[in-house]
Amino acid sequence: MDPAVLPILSCPRCKAAAPFRDVRAARCMTCGMEPGWAAPGVLDLIDTAVGEPTASNTEQRLMESDLVARIYDRFWRPTFVRLLAGKGAGASVGGLAGELFIHKHGLSLDDRPGPWLDLSCGPGAFARALAASAPGALVVGLDISRAMLEVAAQRTGGYTNVVLVRADAHSLPFVDGAFGGVNNAGALHAYDDPELVFREIRRVLRPGGIYMGSTFAEAPTLLGRLTARAAGIRRFEPSELRAWLQRIGFADYEDVRLGGALVFRVRRP
Ligand SMILES: C[S@@+](CC[C@H](N)C(=O)[O-])C[C@H]1O[C@@H](n2cnc3c(N)ncnc32)[C@H](O)[C@@H]1O
Repeated sequence: MDPAVLPILSCPRCKAAAPFRDVRAARCMTCGMEPGWAAPGVLDLIDTAVGEPTASNTEQRLMESDLVARIYDRFWRPTFVRLLAGKGAGASVGGLAGELFIHKHGLSLDDRPGPWLDLSCGPGAFARALAASAPGALVVGLDISRAMLEVAAQRTGGYTNVVLVRADAHSLPFVDGAFGGVNNAGALHAYDDPELVFREIRRVLRPGGIYMGSTFAEAPTLLGRLTARAAGIRRFEPSELRAWLQRIGFADYEDVRLGGALVFRVRRP
């Protein structure tokens, strides 16, 4: 694990900045908390004293299945993006590669030093794309699902600049201003409290940093709307999202609709 991550971590229990001296035998120098390993090479920064998070919906329970994690990129993601967001959505237009292209350029990887956070990284496709495009910068992939992180660890093994951690997006274990950009693809609908996650993202971005995300807007087909309703998938209208992010203190909101999917970008002033 790249030790470059040590200065930007904060202790999940006492919130001390840069709490660990050594990633291999991590122990908070302030409160003594000892994180475990969520999977080989994946630091578990969920505070076990508070307890294990429980999946609050069916989709998240599926995200924690080993089978779904393994088939996610190739089958699960394209199927559900198509179902929930219709033909015009990213995965249908250019495959996952089309989305990776939009996100990499939206984050302006070439003009910024990083580090980069891939928030709710799943099996790590975006983390790998960021790591390949910014080989000199640290990329942190974070997810709450052990199964997703285990697959992400296998698939990012060749990238020495990727660090994977298990944590909750509602309480990010990083110091203020740690990142030059936060990537957050297809996960807003999964959070219990998006307001809290937006605030955390703003906190961990440095001034001028970019927050680039994608989510579901209104489904273009009846089948998509019925599936979303049955699965309890929350949708975000562009005007709602713009007003929400502005109220929290983000600037320069831009978005593009790809069928029923919404890709957006804001900046921390
Ligand atoms: C639909 S997947 C998207 C994965 C990946 N970003 C992509 O676009 O392919 C949503 C991910 O959000 C993660 N997730 C859900 N709730 C989370 C939370 N509270 N904190 C961190 N990750 C969470 C899930 O485990 C899952 O990997």
